[in-house]
Amino acid sequence: MPESDTSKIEKNFYLDVPQKSEVFFLKGSNSYDWGMKNRLARIFDAASGKTVMLAFDHGYFQGPTTGLERPDITILPLAPYADALMLTRGVLRSVIPPSLNKATVLRASGGPSILKELSNEYIAMDMDDALRVNACAVATQVFIGGEYETQSVMNLTKLIDQGLKVGMPVLGVTAVGKELTRDANYIRLATRMCAELGAAFVKTYYVPGFETVTAACPVPIVIAGGKKLPELEALEMAYRAIDQGASGVDMGRNIFQSEAPVAMIKAVRKVVHENMKPTQAYEMFLDLKNR
Ligand code: R5P
Repeated sequence: MPESDTSKIEKNFYLDVPQKSEVFFLKGSNSYDWGMKNRLARIFDAASGKTVMLAFDHGYFQGPTTGLERPDITILPLAPYADALMLTRGVLRSVIPPSLNKATVLRASGGPSILKELSNEYIAMDMDDALRVNACAVATQVFIGGEYETQSVMNLTKLIDQGLKVGMPVLGVTAVGKELTRDANYIRLATRMCAELGAAFVKTYYVPGFETVTAACPVPIVIAGGKKLPELEALEMAYRAIDQGASGVDMGRNIFQSEAPVAMIKAVRKVVHENMKPTQAYEMFLDLKNR
């Protein structure tokens, strides 16, 4: 028998207080189901609306990328400072302790190595496995204008259909290969296609005219870092991207290839979450590096 409610305290139904209906903080994300929103809220900080994702999935086509030869040594010290980790399920299971309790975005596409045509990717992970490891999103690349453009777009839409069934957001990643242009016109096309096809958020590159890219994309955009830049330049790029409407960064080489990776990710956090000016963030980086 359940215990009966014998409290003498008078019940209070707060009859004069209407129940609030929260509008979800993230751009274009208010109509999703609870699980999808909950996963997105683990990637994006509800206070700033932004995220610092640490990307180290490069090995899925590139093998042991410089700085990622031993992710157990180089990445684990950085992980506490990231809002989310973007990685493969292989490194997740082999290196990342489950007790770390970080949001994860799993690389879900693969196939060709750097020795072959990169756009010839397929979905390389079952949605059940993303659920099994408690991922907060899965990611696949689209190669707009690439040789296997349609195949890569179908990878995205298949994942989105599978993700919607279980509340798993899909990150659409716009690839910029050797033969693909990197300008606002192209990035607007690629990011808008990802959003129209149902990606919950999109990862792309910062380009001049970026405010038109974010304006034309109805879901959050995070920027990739790209090739290693001097730290001040990387911080300036992050600042401009946030100032022009990005919802965060998904940065890899500019953090883990930095001469002081922990100092760099801390400086990136200041720019992304607190709009710190890049020169000030750079001073902070130098100060932390020299300690
Ligand atoms: C590359 O294919 C991977 O998806 C990376 O996650 C992405 O390029 C971001 O890393 P980085 O900041 O090093 O460009």
